[in-house]
Amino acid sequence: MYLTREEERGYEGEFGWANKICMKILVRLGELFDATKLVPISSAHVSGVSYKTLGDAPVEFLEALSAAGGKANVRATLNPQGFDAEYLSQKLDADLRRKQLNILKQFEKMGFKQSLTCTPYYLEEPLKDSHLAWAESSAVVYANSVLGAWTNREGGPSALAAAIIGKTPDYGVHKPENRQPKVSIMLETLLQNEMEFGALGNYLGRILEDRIPIIHGLKGCSREDLKQLGAALASTGMVNMFHLHSASMRTEKLEKIAIEDKDIKRSIENLSTASESKPDLIFIGCPHCSLNEIKEIARMMDGRKIKSGKEVWICTSRFVKEKVKNDAQKIEKAGAHVITDTCAVVTWTEKLGIKTIMTNSAKTAYYAPTLNKAETILAPLKECLNTALEG
Ligand code: F3S
Repeated sequence: MYLTREEERGYEGEFGWANKICMKILVRLGELFDATKLVPISSAHVSGVSYKTLGDAPVEFLEALSAAGGKANVRATLNPQGFDAEYLSQKLDADLRRKQLNILKQFEKMGFKQSLTCTPYYLEEPLKDSHLAWAESSAVVYANSVLGAWTNREGGPSALAAAIIGKTPDYGVHKPENRQPKVSIMLETLLQNEMEFGALGNYLGRILEDRIPIIHGLKGCSREDLKQLGAALASTGMVNMFHLHSASMRTEKLEKIAIEDKDIKRSIENLSTASESKPDLIFIGCPHCSLNEIKEIARMMDGRKIKSGKEVWICTSRFVKEKVKNDAQKIEKAGAHVITDTCAVVTWTEKLGIKTIMTNSAKTAYYAPTLNKAETILAPLKECLNTALEG
């Protein structure tokens, strides 16, 4: 791998241990994937921030890095942590809170923004064709496919190293030739709602392996629908992006795979594991809700009440919640909780006695049985809210 004189000096330790160890991580990664050089990035996004998913071992590395003066060299954001400051933190024990806050403190010392969201693109949208080093898989697919930015699916340590160096190795989808579609997906059914977009993503992730698809036949979809598709695609597969059909893209020679209504239905059935439809928690906001989603939920809940004993979480970022304060208040007046900084998957739902989760997110429905030991009910937003609301 070619390194500039400056990069070589960093690699040899001239700029301190933190810089050196980060250069070593990036060069090792680059060598593994035959990168030829490092490319400058405009932002880094680190996952594995929740103590629930991180555990104890990596914290020592974080502490060492921040003690050695490691500092983010580009805009650097963080994925959700294990709880929010208002609602869930009061329900969890002091030891968990202390350990989680220590993780945040280390990141803060290194100059990471306390964004605590899996949708960093709602805070600041990356420019088309800009290189990024993002580690949240749903955000990676969204950035590549919807926003036209360029990022591999980083692991927590490589995103952290990229944030500190401000560069990433140029392999994978940082190269134009690796962004080309390899297979045509012919959608032969009309998707009805955001949940079905997630079900499509879940199905595609399972059949595509690492082949980038171009999808034909998606009509009238919103960016939120594509967010669901990408999040589910990344959870079951290795693909980091998809293309939507466009007249300028030649696809005649690609293998074609037809997706029918029965494929979507089977995905939904597989993602609903609960034997009866009595959820302990109704969870919306995986990935974190956009402004539009919060407004839509507020409209659907306005003047209505959550049934007594029902627990409803609407998860988003602090940034979005602040922008739609009035709508968030309407949702909370109805009896639901608009929760920031975390989500049902990365908090300790088991400790809260939650055994069945109803959600409109195929990604949550895929992970909850293992990460939350919970049964799942996958249903569209409208059905989730109607289950929660009186009348
Ligand atoms: Fe975000 Fe949690 Fe889903 S981190 S993508 S809401 S699993």
